[in-house]
Amino acid sequence: MADFDLLQEQSENRGDGGLLFRSMRLDDIPSIIAIEHEAFTSPWTSDAFVNELTHNHFARYMVMELHGEIIGYGGMWLIMDEAHVTNIAVNSEFRGRKLGSRLLSELQKLAQFLGASRMTLEVRVTNEVAQSLYRKFGFEPSGIRPGYYSDNNEDALIMWAELDRSGAKGRAQ
Ligand SMILES: CC(C)(COP(=O)(O)OP(=O)(O)OC[C@H]1O[C@@H](n2cnc3c(N)ncnc32)[C@H](O)[C@@H]1OP(=O)(O)O)[C@@H](O)C(=O)NCCC(=O)NCCS
Repeated sequence: MADFDLLQEQSENRGDGGLLFRSMRLDDIPSIIAIEHEAFTSPWTSDAFVNELTHNHFARYMVMELHGEIIGYGGMWLIMDEAHVTNIAVNSEFRGRKLGSRLLSELQKLAQFLGASRMTLEVRVTNEVAQSLYRKFGFEPSGIRPGYYSDNNEDALIMWAELDRSGAKGRAQ
């Protein structure tokens, strides 16, 4: 059983109003790519996800299903006690309903379950919605990576959050 499914077995979140969080599988990738293309100007390819799921032992990816339909996903690399979020996205039809918050909360819980004490990510300096989400979950800016995004040479804001034992710092409300 994958780490995340093991965590979910111990959690009360399974089947919450038709919402389910589980580990990403290879056969999820077509649905993931559809969301990826509407969410990002430089979307990952199917091969990138296949590589993450099959070759990257540091990677953990989860999907969020609503009544059996994949409506979001997120992933991270877990290295020692640090979790580096690689992507998080919600299908545009489902945004603004606290589902991104639920997803990030689940990612933080999984990271803690696997021993992480800190979480980091990069976000476009113009992506105010995502930055707002991250601040709710304890992330604070720590620097800039100039020209990080090759499609428009946009800077990335680096953010870090401490993960405490009581769970995520922020909560979906
Ligand atoms: C970022 C993303 C995952 C958020 O998902 P979501 O389901 O809309 O998020 P939530 O409904 O939980 O909202 C979380 C917070 O984001 C902010 N937010 C959400 N929608 C917003 C909007 N339209 N305008 C401004 N802020 C907004 C708010 O701070 C909100 O918290 P609040 O509801 O307590 O005020 C989603 O917008 C997305 O998939 N975007 C495209 C991909 C992306 O940019 N990913 C991040 C890459 S670093």
